[in-house]
Parts: sequence; structure tokens; C-alpha cells
Amino acid sequence: KIFPVVMAGGSGTRFWPLSRKAWPKQFLALAGERPLLAETVARLSPLARPEDTLVVLGPAHEKAARRMLPQVPRRNVLVEPCARNTAPCVGLAALHVRRRDPEGVLLMLPADHHVARPAKLRAAFAAAARLAARGRIATIGVRPSRPETGYGYLEVGAPLPPAKGRARAEGFAVRRFVEKPDLATAERYLAGGGYLWNSGVFAFRADVILDEIARRMPELSALLAGIDRDLGTRKEKATLARLFPRCPATSIDYGVMERSDRIAVVPADFGWSDVGSFAALPEVRPADRAGNVTEGDALVLGRGNVVVARGGRTVAVVGVDDLVVVDAGDAVLVCPRARAQDVRQAVDELKRRG
Ligand code: GDD
Ligand code: MG
Repeated sequence: KIFPVVMAGGSGTRFWPLSRKAWPKQFLALAGERPLLAETVARLSPLARPEDTLVVLGPAHEKAARRMLPQVPRRNVLVEPCARNTAPCVGLAALHVRRRDPEGVLLMLPADHHVARPAKLRAAFAAAARLAARGRIATIGVRPSRPETGYGYLEVGAPLPPAKGRARAEGFAVRRFVEKPDLATAERYLAGGGYLWNSGVFAFRADVILDEIARRMPELSALLAGIDRDLGTRKEKATLARLFPRCPATSIDYGVMERSDRIAVVPADFGWSDVGSFAALPEVRPADRAGNVTEGDALVLGRGNVVVARGGRTVAVVGVDDLVVVDAGDAVLVCPRARAQDVRQAVDELKRRG
């Protein structure tokens, strides 16, 4: 049985001024009508049921997520006392799934990505789950198109034997998992071929990942064992509050994936975008003929501009190209599209000023 687990505890700053601390990227409707988190859960159907879908996030976002996901039962929303990155999040989810079904397969999902072809995505998920059932840690690999340093890279190895009743291999062994390489390394991987981007989705059995964590992150494993002891008892909440903040704040990519020898990859092409910044909106939203993407009452004369008018007033952008303009009412952002990543610098500076 597949248990999708949506990791929704991230707190990006690259969508300021639309995103705020209490309202991070996964809660924004960046690609379509619905927030990315709601899209993430909706496109699981009919592969998995909402009753088997878990969501992991922090206390600040619990209420909003419950409202956005009425189909997910209350007890499936796991609240982390504080954000400790994805390795503790994965561990906590694995403890819960192991109790429900010792053979259960976790399908770990980022909450903030866009997918153009969900049916193809579900086919890849199903293949990854079959590999996971056989003891693998399955990833889903996407063909790289630029030397991006913000992603993990998978070196593709030999094809794995097909699952029972299937004619063809669905996955490959992974020789190496390299998380966020530097630019020179990423360029080498791209030029040499044989590497895929890690899309950020993982499938594994609960027992398999807990065993990997025990081997690669013994400190985390010991804390998880303590949390597990009181799970489902009156002491659950207090124990979680005491032990979870002591977990190492490490991503599953650095903590386990880079060190494991059970990684497999399912290559897939489903129109994936992690909507990394405002500059990526033209990938996930319809643009006009000049490549402009607009929202709200915006008038744009130019090419390749991204203009979001959510402040209740008209925004006109004339005679400039490749610009990002975002009006959020109480704050306005203007920057070249190529520098959209640097919004976080502005956010840091604003925080410093208080
Ligand atoms: N519950 C919870 N708790 N979720 C978290 C936490 C946490 O402390 N930290 C991050 N998340 C969620 C984010 O909201 C996001 O949905 C997902 O986990 C991944 O975290 P990111 O912080 O966005 O990771 P990344 O983008 O730097 O890297 C990952 O994704 C890339 C693809 O987008 C890695 O898996 C890379 O290898 C991969 O290429
Ligand atoms: Mg991400």
C-alpha cells in the first residue's frame, strides 16, 4: 500500500512579497487556480487515497493546511514542533507509517512543485513504489536542461530487473547521488550526460528508510526511537516537543541519499517545474505572444516580463523587457528576471532592519 507523505514545512523567501513567514510558497496559487499544496494532493488521485495521505508541517501552518485539504483526515496531519529540515521529517513520517502498515511504502512529496502532465507523474510514482516494495530507495529523475546548482544529481547505472509481470525494466541503479554540486561540477555532469536531476520525490518502505537512517544518521535514529516509544500514548506530544528539536537539521539528501547504496531512479518526463522563483512563472503559466506573464490588472508593453498585480490597483509596465514586478499591496518588488533568485537578499535585509 502507498502512503503519500507531503513535506510542507519549508519556508522559502524567493516569492516575497507574495509569500510571508505565515504564508510560504506551498500555500500560493503560483501555477493554477489552487495553491501548490492543494495541487500536490489532488493529483495523487486515483493512485492513492486521501485517508492514506499524510502531511508534515510546522504549527504555524497547520490551520491553513487543514483548511486547504479538507479531504485529509485530522490525524494524518503531523505537526513538527519546529523545522529541522527533511531528514527528521522523513523519519517521523516513517514511524507513523510503520505502525499503520509494516509493509507500507512512503511516497515522499515536495509540497511546492508544478507538474504539467499528472497522469505521467502517477505512472512514475507507481513504478517507484514497485521498486520501493522490493527494498530500494527510489527516486524520480528528470532530464537536466541547465547546470542548476540547487538540485541533486543522479548518476544513472545499470537497469534493474523488471518487477513481476512486467516486461521492461522500470528503473536503474544509481551509482552516485550528489546533492547541490558546485557550478563547475554541474556543468561537467551536464556535458558528460548520464546524469538526471533529482525531482525531490522519494519512495521507500518504512523499515528500509529507518534502517538507512540508523546506519547513516545514528544520532537521529536514537531520537526517533525515543519518539516512537511514546507514539499513540498520552505522552506523545510532550516527547515529540522534547526530542524533535534535538534532531540534526539535515536534509534527507545530504544525510541519507548521498551515502546510501540502495538508490534507484525511475526516469520520467511529466513537465516538472519546482517553480524556483518569479522567473519560472512563464514555465508554468500561459504567456502572451511576447512571453509576458501577467496576473491581475496589469498592462505590459515589452517582452518577457512577469507582472503580478495583487494590490488592488492597476500596474503598467512600459518599454522594458525581462522584468519582474510584483505588487502585493503593502509591498512592491521590481527586479530583472535574471536576478529573481536574489529576492531573498532583500528579505534578509528587511529582516535585519526589523
Ligand atoms: N515538514 C517539513 N519540515 N518539510 C520541509 C522541511 C521541514 O523542516 N524543510 C523543507 N521541507 C519541505 C519543503 O516545503 C519542500 O516541499 C520539500 O520539503 C523539499 O525541501 P526544499 O528545501 O525545497 O529542498 P530543495 O529544493 O533545496 O532540494 C530538494 O529538492 C530538489 C528538487 O526541487 C532536494 O531533494 C534536491 O535533491 C532536489 O533536486
Ligand atoms: Mg525546493
